[in-house]
Amino acid sequence: MIHSLFALLLAMAQPAAAAAAPELTAPTFNHAQTQFTLRCGGCHGVTGRSPPSQVPNLRGSAGYFLCTPESREYLIRLPNVSKTQLSDADLAEVMNYVAFGLGEGKTPKGAKPFTGEEIHRLRKTPLTGANLKQERDKVVRKLVRSCGAPKDLLLYGKR
Ligand code: HEC
Repeated sequence: MIHSLFALLLAMAQPAAAAAAPELTAPTFNHAQTQFTLRCGGCHGVTGRSPPSQVPNLRGSAGYFLCTPESREYLIRLPNVSKTQLSDADLAEVMNYVAFGLGEGKTPKGAKPFTGEEIHRLRKTPLTGANLKQERDKVVRKLVRSCGAPKDLLLYGKR
């Protein structure tokens, strides 16, 4: 009697084999995604989504910036981008992930990816002294006018 009660308690304490947890698979990030998460995700969100009036939303929008030479330069000359602790080649990889990956197909047809050489040249003149909101407004108005970007892209800084 005591023996069988003990066996019963023991059986109850065992997790049921049939209900075992499904095998857990960790999400795998490539190098660019990892660097974006570490260095940019705190402000822009790991998936590139943020409240657009506070931090520009990158998801589904960043690709438009490859449309004009000014907007392309603006992306790299932003202080948070140009001054990040990444090599030219690594920053090119991250910015290609931002424009082509998070940008979700909004890059213009035939848009060229960033190269380390282009990054090297542009990050030498960060937009420090400039009024970034004014600069962005100018650049984005042109994207709305000439590149089919939605007016929502102008939401940043407007509250
Ligand atoms: C401290 C918060 C912060 C960090 C960190 C940051 N950003 Fe930003 N980012 C902003 C803000 C705010 C803007 C709007 C322009 C400005 O004021 O700099 C912006 C603008 C941008 C834009 C232009 C989008 C648009 O619609 O104007 C891109 C692209 C971008 N950031 C990418 C990055 C990348 C890539 C990194 C990491 C290397 C990064 N940012 C790190 C806050 C941040």
